[in-house]
Amino acid sequence: MTSLAVFPRARAASSSVASLAVSPLRIREETRADIDARDALLDAAMGPERFVKSSERLREGRAPARGLALVATLDGELAGTVRLWRVDAGGAPALMLGPLAVDERRRSLGVGGALIRAALRRARSRGHCAVILVGDAPYYERFGFSSAPTRDLVMPGPVDPARFLALELEPGALAGAAGRVTATGDMLAAPALRHAA
Ligand SMILES: CC(C)(COP(=O)(O)OP(=O)(O)OC[C@H]1O[C@@H](n2cnc3c(N)ncnc32)[C@H](O)[C@@H]1OP(=O)(O)O)[C@@H](O)C(=O)NCCC(=O)NCCS
Repeated sequence: MTSLAVFPRARAASSSVASLAVSPLRIREETRADIDARDALLDAAMGPERFVKSSERLREGRAPARGLALVATLDGELAGTVRLWRVDAGGAPALMLGPLAVDERRRSLGVGGALIRAALRRARSRGHCAVILVGDAPYYERFGFSSAPTRDLVMPGPVDPARFLALELEPGALAGAAGRVTATGDMLAAPALRHAA
């Protein structure tokens, strides 16, 4: 398994600066051993509402895109998580990003940004051409996401158009994309894994 060691930006809260100087942030693929800690992190960050989001309709019963379920660890503990999912975006193959969450005690250290950049780098190297998501534009714009490419796309549930964002990894990948976004990822076999977020 490939893992990447980076050092977060040094504009951390003062109480964290000393430990960041010696504890690298590691981004690696998620494993089964991460499931409990990841679920606890997502429950704390988002609560049960995470299962009623429109994005969840594209995740339930599916496996994340191969090699694109990532976790961040700090001091060996799970600090953040992101997954990407294969979708058809109105006729264009794409990935949907989410959920992205960082442990509340580890925020504003660059963990979320490192996860997104690593995910986009991996997605590009695996030949994916576009990423969509539903999230806060003021956060995701810094990575190049905007609402323009999703103008003619329809999620399987209500979304605020200002929060329906996309990034073309290949210029023009979403040109002409119009209509419903549908799941295309591998199906999960076990009913217990139905809620895949
Ligand atoms: C959003 C989230 C993943 C960011 O993680 P993080 O590790 O703190 O992110 P980074 O350290 O890379 O970036 C922090 C910066 O983003 C800003 N930021 C965080 N959430 C933001 C949001 N929703 N909108 C705008 N800016 C945001 C922070 O204020 C901080 O700003 P600064 O750089 O000026 O100090 C984290 O806050 C989180 O888990 N939130 C709850 C779950 C969630 O809402 N996930 C979906 C995001 S739409």
